[in-house]
Amino acid sequence: MKSYQIAVLAGDGIGEQIMQQALKALRCIEQRNEVSFELIPAPFGASAWFESGKSFPDETMEICDQADAILKGPIGLSFEDTKKIPLEQRPERGALLPLRRRYDTYANFRPVRLPAELSHFSPLKEEIIGAGLDLMIIRELVGGVYFGKKESGVNAQGLRYVVEQLEYDEFQIERIARVAFQTAQKRGKKLHSIHKSNVLKSSVLWNDIVAEVGQDFPDVQVENVLVDAAATYLCLNPGQFDVMVMENLFGDILSDQAGGVLGSLGLMPSACVGPQKSYYEPAHGSAPDIAGKNIANPYSMIGSVAMMLEMSFGMQHEANNLWKAMQSVFVAGYSTADLSKPGASVTMVGTDEFGDRVVAALEK
Ligand code: IPM
Ligand code: MN
Repeated sequence: MKSYQIAVLAGDGIGEQIMQQALKALRCIEQRNEVSFELIPAPFGASAWFESGKSFPDETMEICDQADAILKGPIGLSFEDTKKIPLEQRPERGALLPLRRRYDTYANFRPVRLPAELSHFSPLKEEIIGAGLDLMIIRELVGGVYFGKKESGVNAQGLRYVVEQLEYDEFQIERIARVAFQTAQKRGKKLHSIHKSNVLKSSVLWNDIVAEVGQDFPDVQVENVLVDAAATYLCLNPGQFDVMVMENLFGDILSDQAGGVLGSLGLMPSACVGPQKSYYEPAHGSAPDIAGKNIANPYSMIGSVAMMLEMSFGMQHEANNLWKAMQSVFVAGYSTADLSKPGASVTMVGTDEFGDRVVAALEK
């Protein structure tokens, strides 16, 4: 029997509650397959800082080092509460970016999926989104301005200043481009590479390398799109995209915009893949305003489990079952208050009940 260790970092805010739903689904899948999942919870994020003074504690690092995969919930606090934590220990700087750096999780897959039956979740008009949406945003996750050198101080004129460097080398661009081409090859053989080469030199290098890597993938059609234009197209005609690849900061922004196109960031799971280890997380924050209210939809967390099953454990079939189970719960008219307003066609359920319904659908 195969056995996998999974580090479970529930995180902050709604994290604990949506993680519970994801673990229920995982247990269900474990029961009917020749596989065992050893789930090892570990503190991470602001909650860890309040407990131990570290947002990515050493014990958590050890657990993650040992694990076959890491399942991570959202992290972060409200703007006000964040100020209670020293800058370098805040969950984003002190935990999340170090996690990404530690495992070199350079390839961030953010599926933007809306089956036609659920197109009413989107704020876009029926004629634009009616047929649903299925695109994959691939974001470089460990380079660019996020990880570049930073300097701040007071300059010769007595003015406070800051410098943050946007750094990429050809190795970093090549490996993410390769992942994107491989993904496009398995999907619609169309790749949109997002850049800002009319201003940024980093994008000039980006485009050069994408063109070079593209020679190894003659069956994939590449289009280079400026990032600002891409933002417009995502609203006007998102269906033209199949796979999009971009550097770290562009990917942060456009993937949130894509979440808006779906109707909620709550519909955005993700996979963060490194050479040795990968971790899986919702693409959204910890929503402290709705934490503990039993109204957060667990889709992004359960979807992250589906991605883990597929990408870390080769369990494509069960991953598909999980996606289908979640969709069937929505299609049957169930939703949570964070995603939907009460209405004749919606039966509002809590986070737990939504999770239970997904498991019930999975068992069928
Ligand atoms: C994301 C998040 C993070 C990012 C934050 C929490 C640092 O917004 O995963 O998209 O900017 O990458
Ligand atoms: Mn983001």
